[in-house]
Amino acid sequence: MAERKQWKWADDPSLNKMELTKLEKDGLDVIETIVNTYSKEGFQSIESSDMDRFKWAGVYQQRPKDGHFMMRVRIPGGLLNSEQARVLAKIAEDYGRDLVDVTTRQAVQFHWLTVESLADIFDRLAAVGLSSFEACGDCPRTIMGNPLAGIDPHEVLDTRPLVAELEKFFLLNREFSNLPRKYKMSISANIHNAAHAQINDLAFTPAKKTIAGEEVIGFHVWVGGGLSAKPYLAKKLDVFCRPEEVVKVAEGVTTLFRDYGYRQKRTHARLKFLVADWGAEKFKEELVKLVGELEPQGEDLLQGWNGGYFYGIHEQKQKGLYYAGLSVPVGRMDASELVELARLADEYGDGTIGTCNTQNVLIRNIPKDKIAAFQAEPLIVNRFKLQPNTFVGYAVSCTGTEYCNLAIVETKERMRALALYLDETVELDTPLRIHMIGCPNSCGQRQIGDIGLQGALVKTPSGMVEAFDIHVGGTLEEPQFNRKLNARITVDKLGPFLAQLITLYKADRLEGEPYWRYVERVGLERIQEQVDSILQTA
Ligand code: HEM
Ligand code: SF4
Repeated sequence: MAERKQWKWADDPSLNKMELTKLEKDGLDVIETIVNTYSKEGFQSIESSDMDRFKWAGVYQQRPKDGHFMMRVRIPGGLLNSEQARVLAKIAEDYGRDLVDVTTRQAVQFHWLTVESLADIFDRLAAVGLSSFEACGDCPRTIMGNPLAGIDPHEVLDTRPLVAELEKFFLLNREFSNLPRKYKMSISANIHNAAHAQINDLAFTPAKKTIAGEEVIGFHVWVGGGLSAKPYLAKKLDVFCRPEEVVKVAEGVTTLFRDYGYRQKRTHARLKFLVADWGAEKFKEELVKLVGELEPQGEDLLQGWNGGYFYGIHEQKQKGLYYAGLSVPVGRMDASELVELARLADEYGDGTIGTCNTQNVLIRNIPKDKIAAFQAEPLIVNRFKLQPNTFVGYAVSCTGTEYCNLAIVETKERMRALALYLDETVELDTPLRIHMIGCPNSCGQRQIGDIGLQGALVKTPSGMVEAFDIHVGGTLEEPQFNRKLNARITVDKLGPFLAQLITLYKADRLEGEPYWRYVERVGLERIQEQVDSILQTA
């Protein structure tokens, strides 16, 4: 076991219980115990205090708590190669009942793992340069990025080396393995905000500045975003960060979180609460004390938001080469589909697969003369479509009661069915992003959906029934979270209800007007009137 740290908060009497657990034994130390003890002696041998620490290994008990685990594998910047993809597929096949989920933070998630399998899985991941460590827990999670980095005509810089540096610096770094709470970073130089800057704890977005007569491409720095029950949009600091300063700035921000973040209540421990209290100005002052002077802001190069969607075949920065954005409905595939995807990446592209925060994938570097054959591949025609139907294509869902202990309702399969129903019922030629979540934690990022559906239960004469609260108007284009309507719709009525609501939007909208903008233009009261009239006739 590594030497125990004397953290400055160690003697604070108001620390929450989890903080005491973390002081007793660092989360990362559980990895060794899993490998040496639990994976040999089985589920019954796991000490209850270590069960929480399993998250630092990237492993979490799934529902029901009967000895099975989910595992999240970090995919830094959403880029993996075909060899890694095959190893992931084999793990799913051997240990995870054939299930692979692409998550809203570009990670890959398995279910159904037993503790006996973990040591072998860690080894298999390590052999191809992957890791599940710190993919969960109070530490720096998967670093989100632009899955088109390096080939993106809409990027001002290739961020792949920076993602790699950040990953190298933070992964298994014991200076930062005991943060007050989870910590999410994103870095992208895509001008359309591919990595959802405003909902991360720390984010870097493209910027430029003339310094000493020379134009420098770098980043603006955002802190304190996050979703969950109390969502906050990140605040932009008055800082311009050169590419070579990214790691230093990230270290500084993370140190502030570690040393000043709140450790009294778990629900009040994310960086967003500290940033909200301090404000951007004080935060910058404290940051500068740690990392030294930084240039003030330059010119922002962000222009709107692509939602994290890349469907279709598009020309890359490199002339004559194309990338293909594919739809994976609600992010779920089986092992054989991932193997097939790896084959397509090798045969048509450069072997790289991109994972998107919209639970989708993409393939990069396809030469022009291979596009026709690629488009005719059965996996592309039948499953991972280049041009999915509107609702299936823009549906995001969390895990729900199927595997999640915190879920109130079923989500993933329900969102899949709902999207199919809407595609059959309502014809719509513009994207309408629907996000479904099973509880307020918001893993499926309900707040940024055009329509956000959040699970709840309602009491009926025949008992408790699953239902959804309806939220409308979320976007990161002009960043704002969606807002709740007065409508808790039971699951049997959800499809027809949404079909009617969307039909009213279709009739009222201006040409090409996205749903969130329509909500803003007509106002929440108008939408509520529509809802009331639908409910009266339901
Ligand atoms: C077995 C239980 C859980 C499952 C299956 C689950 C699943 C997920 C997944 C797949 C993501 C995308 C994450 C990534 O790729 O890094 C995510 C993110 C998230 N999870 Fe969970 N999660 C679980 C438990 C929790 C818990 C306990 C909380 C909070 C108390 C939580 C809150 C969140 C939030 C807030 C996000 C993303 C939103 C943000 O960016 O702030 N989840 N979760
Ligand atoms: S949003 Fe809630 S129900 Fe859905 S996966 Fe996250 S914790 Fe579970």
